Amino acid sequence: MSDIAATKDKYAAQIAGAEDLRVLDDIRVAALGKKGEVSKMMQGLGKMSIDEKKVMGPALNGLKNDIAALIEAKKTELEDAALDAALASETMDMTLPVGSPSGTLHPVQQVMEEMAVIFSDMGFSVAEGPDIEDDFHNFTALNFPPGHPARDMHDTFFMTSQEGEEPKVLRTHTSPVQIRTMINQKPPIRIIAPGRTYRCDSDQTHTPMFHQVEGLVIDKGIHMGHLKGVLMDFVSAFFETDVDVQFRPHHFPFTEPSAEMDVRYERDGAAIKIGQGESWMEILGCGMVHPNVLRACGLDPEEYQGFAFGMGVDRLAMLKYGMPDLRDMFAADTRWLAHYGFDPLLQANLASGLS
Ligand code: PHE
Repeated sequence: MSDIAATKDKYAAQIAGAEDLRVLDDIRVAALGKKGEVSKMMQGLGKMSIDEKKVMGPALNGLKNDIAALIEAKKTELEDAALDAALASETMDMTLPVGSPSGTLHPVQQVMEEMAVIFSDMGFSVAEGPDIEDDFHNFTALNFPPGHPARDMHDTFFMTSQEGEEPKVLRTHTSPVQIRTMINQKPPIRIIAPGRTYRCDSDQTHTPMFHQVEGLVIDKGIHMGHLKGVLMDFVSAFFETDVDVQFRPHHFPFTEPSAEMDVRYERDGAAIKIGQGESWMEILGCGMVHPNVLRACGLDPEEYQGFAFGMGVDRLAMLKYGMPDLRDMFAADTRWLAHYGFDPLLQANLASGLS
């Protein structure tokens, strides 16, 4: 019997000292494995007398169970310790300072914010409208009569429609927001409407989805001088330098007279310098709101006048920040975003500079 007590003490000490699960398993094999010490002691039972068996049988079984219980308890202890160690080493200290922000603002987002800052300084607010429009807001109310050829110039994406229903369109410009605003607000109106627009077109300078910023001013006594003043101030603020502009007559169904505004620029190798030089580049369309558009929105053209303008955000971002291909804007290549992206913590503002 003293053998049993000694064996138990020996293994209890070994188990208590086991440092990891592998050592613990070696102890289990040495004691309880097929050829283990306790198993061998149990094999000895066969040669014993019945009386001896009666005493030694339960004693050896007790030894086996005690050792197994000690091993099980130690195993749980070691597993808990391993989990605690893993948790401790994988802890993240949320209060540590950030090295550099891992995300950047997309140039389109940056440029839209720059535009909003400039126009809000002039008293404009930001308006929005849906990407999926109906024919009335995208065309008819903007003085594109049904069947008018100017509709074809917009490479429109039409949605499939129910029998007998007129198909909805992905808006081809932000001008429908003019209509929504004039119908829902009383003049004076001064808004810009930034957002996504869609045309079925794709090459180095066209993508099927692109961004525009629309501008609209409606009040009494508004004339072309106001339009020119606002846009001249805008481009100089946007390009952060004096920019020479020219207005060329143009046609849009929703404005009369209509114009395109060009900025002076010159090429310097691959770079384009805006503001100086002998060449002109078109950057936006504009004009005085057509009386038919005012009427379609319930305004009396004898009482109210206004001007509108629209420009491509992506193209202006390319010009200002020197990106060669419009399609890269939407390719979601993180290297491109890391290179051309903006620090999200630095908000565009007129006091410290826009960019
Ligand atoms: N909606 C026109 C376009 O997408 C731009 C524009 C807006 C022109 C407002 C004049 C006035 O081409």
